[in-house]
Amino acid sequence: MAYETILVEQRDAVTLITLNRPQALNALNSQVLVDLGAAFAAFDADPSQHCAVLTGSEKAFAAGADIKEMADKLAADFFLEDFFSGWQSKVVATRKPWIAAVAGFALGGGCELAMMADFIIAADTARFGQPEIKLAVAPGMGGSQRLTRAVGKAKAMDMCLTGRMMDAQEAERSGLVARIVPAADLLDDALKTAAAIASMPPMAAMVNKEMVNIAFETGLAQGLLTERRLFQILSATDDRKEGMAAFIEKRPGVWKGR
Ligand code: CAA
Repeated sequence: MAYETILVEQRDAVTLITLNRPQALNALNSQVLVDLGAAFAAFDADPSQHCAVLTGSEKAFAAGADIKEMADKLAADFFLEDFFSGWQSKVVATRKPWIAAVAGFALGGGCELAMMADFIIAADTARFGQPEIKLAVAPGMGGSQRLTRAVGKAKAMDMCLTGRMMDAQEAERSGLVARIVPAADLLDDALKTAAAIASMPPMAAMVNKEMVNIAFETGLAQGLLTERRLFQILSATDDRKEGMAAFIEKRPGVWKGR
């Protein structure tokens, strides 16, 4: 499939998606959403693919929603198009695991897109921010909600109200990113991590993702109940029998994916 704003390649069971609007520091316009939506749908539907990595360039993961595209829109346009809602239905809805590999700027919608990933691996050059306030707006792709859940109220308020950037070290200390690697190793590290995830029993990977996400949506009692039920459902798979037998027989498991 031909994409205008992203590059997509398959490396064994890992799909690598690269944002590719260098002239705009990978600003997220409507075409990026169309392309990413199609790429994530294809990834989810392809039984040979088990984990994805989304990355940008050395200078910018993405510098935000495309300000030039938004500048002339009226409030009614944003409302009637339900602007930004597609990110939830086309990107967050992805059921298989995916990682954001972030170098350089991840600002506004760029930070929000990274936070849609299951986790973020950051280069030591990464800089995160929600600078929308400087444009007299506020986050629109989940920043005020996901950043607050990730780093807590104090830091989220600091970031949203001052519009300042957080470097990779502060992002790791604050729980926004899973780990930091030297910029030169970012893609390699993210692809190796994705390959490790892709080698896991695929349904178990999808259910683990779902379980952790449920922690963001529900209270503890409901979350624990859902966790037990999902565990019980997973135990019905052929792969569960194989996984436990392989452990006892001291050999690697061979997964059917069901
Ligand atoms: N939208 C559209 N174009 C953008 C852009 C954006 N978010 N960010 C950068 N660009 C464009 C610039 O306009 C410039 O294009 P031209 O060469 O045609 O002028 C090109 O990318 C290179 O950018 P700079 O010359 O500004 O590069 P720099 O190195 O001097 O600065 C930067 C880098 C600090 C990231 C700066 O570009 C910047 O501040 N960008 C905007 C960041 C921002 O405000 N993001 C939030 C957007 S609103 C949003 O995302 C809403 C939401 O919640 C979804």
